[in-house]
Amino acid sequence: MDQFLITGRSRIAGEVTISGAKNAALPLLAAMILAETPTTLNNVPTLQDVRTLVKLIAGMGVNIVKEGSTVRCDTSSIENYFAPYDLVKTMRASILVLGPLLARFGEAEVSLPGGCAIGSRPVDQHLKAFKAMGADIMVENGYVKAKAPEGGRLIGCEFSFDMVTVGGTENVLIAATLAKGTTILENCAREPEVVDLANMLVAMGAKIKGIGTAVMTIEGVDSLHGCDYSVVPDRIETGSYLAGALMTCGDVTAKNTAPSLLQPVLQKFEEMGAVITTGDDWIRAQMSGRPKPVNIRTQPHPGFPTDMQAQLMAVCCLADGTSTISENIFENRYMHVPELKRMGADIQVDGHTAIIRGIEQFNAAPVMATDLRASMSLVMAAAAAQGQTVIDRIYHIDRGYENVEEKLRGLGVNIERIKPNG
Ligand code: EPZ
Repeated sequence: MDQFLITGRSRIAGEVTISGAKNAALPLLAAMILAETPTTLNNVPTLQDVRTLVKLIAGMGVNIVKEGSTVRCDTSSIENYFAPYDLVKTMRASILVLGPLLARFGEAEVSLPGGCAIGSRPVDQHLKAFKAMGADIMVENGYVKAKAPEGGRLIGCEFSFDMVTVGGTENVLIAATLAKGTTILENCAREPEVVDLANMLVAMGAKIKGIGTAVMTIEGVDSLHGCDYSVVPDRIETGSYLAGALMTCGDVTAKNTAPSLLQPVLQKFEEMGAVITTGDDWIRAQMSGRPKPVNIRTQPHPGFPTDMQAQLMAVCCLADGTSTISENIFENRYMHVPELKRMGADIQVDGHTAIIRGIEQFNAAPVMATDLRASMSLVMAAAAAQGQTVIDRIYHIDRGYENVEEKLRGLGVNIERIKPNG
């Protein structure tokens, strides 16, 4: 398994070009299954999770090809509506093919995703909504076997999610576009990636009202056509690199991004003492001195995103005072805490809350990446640390950060990928 060797005490500074958002690209790829004519998706990041989903869709007989940052998809040759365990187990977002298959072809068989490092992450809300739309859902031998009612089409309904779920909103929104009649979805996730999906569905001919709000009304149509669409910039990748500036008295400009998507994060950066300037598609974070302590509560959008929690915790570790973080989305998203502690951090976790007493500097130690965002917090801590840090299991970071070493080197980080067994 590859490792990163990072030599610390870098000042993270320079320009970095942001890629398309992984968490938007995945639902958009799944939504391509709906179109009866070819679809082109641009600004798609080259990442392991994207490769997995493309492979999963190709396995259904669909002609789907990724060339550079463009994916072209033609569903006219589709042969089966099956998503096998072998692929689904490597990426939970694979469950997003259930909605489009069921809506367009009236049936689907998709492996149930397992738990993962950050929590148990059930998909009960997805299934409950499909049932409310008249689908017959059976879970058998680890697979969800779903069938649309007589006539092969889901039926529009009124459905309220029990909690705000990004994937649930996406899966059901996709399915509702082809349902018979009108679907009203309440307590929807309002994340920018959900908005991006809704916008692409509209470009495909879907009729959706209330995009970006908690209530979406979808008038089902008989068919959808292909379109040419571009994935929204990755707000989490943007925030991750900017956080590096805060930890190292740095100066980072993120280009090809969208400042409006990062308001809750930029607000915290400013509270921590960074000078933030923005243009239409760029954000600059300049930092001098130690960060100021802050209190952070993760919440659904427009609250502070859970996907920035680990990176902000690494910044809080170096703050001049005591910060608190409360993680309210996932029950087990503090796996980076013991690793940051190995580098000298002073963190105490009590249930959902972490209390972080600032230290002056991190010291290098061998550490292990536990999930995607946790990996980034360790990379940034290592870049700021005294000494050489080896980070193990970096395959996690390859799932979500495109060209990560190249981008970090461009910002002055001394990073090398090593392959321990040759
Ligand atoms: C998406 O995951 C993102 N993944 C996650 O990104 C992100 O952390 C998360 O949303 C929250 O913003 C993708 O977009 C591919 P949820 P998702 O459904 O859709 C519970 C990253 O690092 N829940 O909004 O799986 C669930 O257990 C990551 O890029 C149910 O109980 O998240 C969790 O506690 C990891 N039942 C909460 O809701 C359900 O049916 C929010 O989950 C669905 C969810």
